[in-house]
Amino acid sequence: MIPLKLTLTGFNGIRDGMGRESLVIDFERETGGAMLVALTGGNGRGKSTLLDNMTPYPVMPSRAGADGLGAFSYYDEVYLPENHKELEWRMGDTRYRSQIVIRVGGKRRTEAYLHEFGEKSWTPARLGDGTVSDGRMETYGRLVEGIAGPAATFFSTAFSAQQRRQLSAYRNGEIKSLLADLLRLDAVRERGERANEVLRLLRCGQRAARTQCEAQRQAVHALRHELAEMGDTTAQSELARQNRNVAAARLDARRNTLAALRAEADVAAGQEARRVQLLAERGTALTGWRQTIEELDNAIGGEEAARDDMAQRHAQRAASRETGLASLRAQRTTLLASREQERRAALAAAHVPLFQHLAGRRASVVSELRQSLARKEKLAADLALAQARQMAVEREAGQAALKAQELRRRLSLTREVPCSGMPMQTGCKLLGDAHAAHALLPDAGAVVARLNAAYTAIVDEINGLRAGASGIASMCAALARAEQRQQCTARRLAHAERQAARREALALAAPLLTEVEDRLATAADHSAAERAADDHEYQAQERRLSELVRRREEAARPCAAVARLDAQLASLPPPPDLGAIGRAAQECEQAQAQLRTAEQAQLAALRARDHAEELRRQIAVKEQDCGRRERGLARLDEQMEMWSLLAKALGNDGIIALAIDDAGPELSALANQLLLACYGPRFTVSIKTQVATAKGELREGFDITVHDAQRDTVKSVTRMSGGERIWINECLTRAMALYLAQADGRRSATLFSDEADGAFDAQHKRRFMEMKREVLRVGGYAREFFISHTPELAEMADRVIDLDQYAT
Ligand SMILES: Nc1ncnc2c1ncn2[C@@H]1O[C@H](COP(=O)(O)OP(=O)(O)O)[C@@H](O)[C@H]1O
Ligand SMILES: [Mg+2]
Repeated sequence: MIPLKLTLTGFNGIRDGMGRESLVIDFERETGGAMLVALTGGNGRGKSTLLDNMTPYPVMPSRAGADGLGAFSYYDEVYLPENHKELEWRMGDTRYRSQIVIRVGGKRRTEAYLHEFGEKSWTPARLGDGTVSDGRMETYGRLVEGIAGPAATFFSTAFSAQQRRQLSAYRNGEIKSLLADLLRLDAVRERGERANEVLRLLRCGQRAARTQCEAQRQAVHALRHELAEMGDTTAQSELARQNRNVAAARLDARRNTLAALRAEADVAAGQEARRVQLLAERGTALTGWRQTIEELDNAIGGEEAARDDMAQRHAQRAASRETGLASLRAQRTTLLASREQERRAALAAAHVPLFQHLAGRRASVVSELRQSLARKEKLAADLALAQARQMAVEREAGQAALKAQELRRRLSLTREVPCSGMPMQTGCKLLGDAHAAHALLPDAGAVVARLNAAYTAIVDEINGLRAGASGIASMCAALARAEQRQQCTARRLAHAERQAARREALALAAPLLTEVEDRLATAADHSAAERAADDHEYQAQERRLSELVRRREEAARPCAAVARLDAQLASLPPPPDLGAIGRAAQECEQAQAQLRTAEQAQLAALRARDHAEELRRQIAVKEQDCGRRERGLARLDEQMEMWSLLAKALGNDGIIALAIDDAGPELSALANQLLLACYGPRFTVSIKTQVATAKGELREGFDITVHDAQRDTVKSVTRMSGGERIWINECLTRAMALYLAQADGRRSATLFSDEADGAFDAQHKRRFMEMKREVLRVGGYAREFFISHTPELAEMADRVIDLDQYAT
């Protein structure tokens, strides 16, 4: 692979290092066929960004981390919405163009195309297996690896990136995998993996077969246990057979006994028939006797009930008779009382005129007394009026006397008044008044006289009236008594009149009394006759009852017919022992049941024997199966051992280790040739695929041992100093590239290195460049691009691409 022309657009490294969005470098023009080309520029100018993008592989190794090429993403390296990497390169005689478009704006997407230049134009690259570039990153990767070789090989032999781990730091497995890739042993390794897969599958199968085998063994164990539990089934079945025979013999004996007893019973059957007949007759006689007794009991019961009814009826009739008689007697008593009342009424009628006369007299006395009393009361009222008048006259007479006295006092003033008889007397009021009194004085005296006369008359009148009105109280008492007597007489008269008035009605009682007495006499006679008839009827009933009782007592005596039949029955011989036949029959049944049980036991024992037989057969089959399985497992073990051996042989520690061993001397020779070229004869290396363990045993491993001729020591490369290690690593890496170059047509014609060269001293720097030239020469490489950090090294290069010039 030779890079021809590179265009980068939108990369952070170019923007930050050179201040450009886009960078175009034409390597054909810039190198002009030089072998060692130095890339120079200040720190952070963009040298690594450029070198990383000078290969068609879609990765930037200095950004991919120390452990490989996987952890890389273009999205961390670009900043425009659409970014480009376009590289034209050559492989052999064919010119290719890689175009990678990284889109960040919107949805992230990366497209990669590979074209090859044909006769006149670019066409999508194509592999022998038909893979054609279609823009997908995966297709692009396959195409590039198909044309330029695997990325891993390329980056571990032709490209030494900064920060990549050195070969000497790889672990055994890693280095062997890498070497297997480098030595094109991937087919071997793939087979080794397939052998491992077969082994894994066999292991699974073995596990399943073991489980099944174990299950089968357990089944055999369970069957054996069951068989042991069953015991000796042959002996058991023999015992059961003997038991069954004994039971059968017992049943035969019991049956014979029963038959003999039944024959005896048949002989006794005639007598038994007679006995049965007699018993039947006895039963009939007893039944008839019991029926008669029952009938008589019923008749007695009926007669007793009739008697009781009769007695009740008679008692009722006697009671009603007594009631009739009592009623008639009560009537007679009432009528007798009426007759007495009638007598008293006649007497009262005789007294009525007497009482009437007396009442008249009493009424006239009362009337006279009332008139006298009215008169006296009139006089008493007049007396009260006269006494009132007397008091009025007394008052009037008093007033008239006072008035006359006043007139006289006024008249007496005429004498005492000084103006009397004087001229002024006409004007004196007192004197005028006295004169007026003098005129009135005679009238006043007349009034007093008249009133005195009236008073005297009234006093006379009062005296007369008081005499007339005296005795009112006694008269009142007399009137009260007279009125009481009058009322008493009136009551007696009324009573006598009422009695007299009832006389007619009471007179009717006499004929009724006669009639009642007649009826009473008749009823008494009738009652006596009825009572006699009832007694008669009752006695007849009693007689019937006693006749029945007598017959019942007679019937209660023991039945003669039954006694006769009992005597006949007693004369018969005793009946055969039916219980013995029953017992014999029962024993027979028991024997039969025992025989059945014995037969069942025998059957069960036979079945158990058959089952045991079956178990033995199953055990044999399963054991056979177990044996087969175990043999199969043994074969499986053999196969697994074989496959395990094969996997190991085809693995890193087998053929791969052998191939590495095989390649070891040649690799060592190449590395030593390079070491001699750049470092002189001091160091020589040898590659070891077997290392000694702590116990001194050899085991598969990987180590590079370095022989120091100056000090005559041998040590692992891991024990070398940092600077020495860089040298040896560089030589080893290049040696590997050279070794591969002999075998592989897809090797890169260009080498790339981005190494730390600042650590070398001046002499080593020169030797370092010599080594580079030696590698190019031995390997037949066209060119090496290397990034130099020191001006001396750049000066030693055939051509310098100074990136400072590209900066804006
Ligand atoms: N992915 C990135 N993101 C941001 N800055 C980056 C990225 N890659 C490189 N740079 C910057 O771009 C510049 C160039 O980087 P680099 O190519 O490694 O420089 P050098 O010339 O030292 O090898 C540096 O300043 C670095 O920090
Ligand atoms: Mg750098």
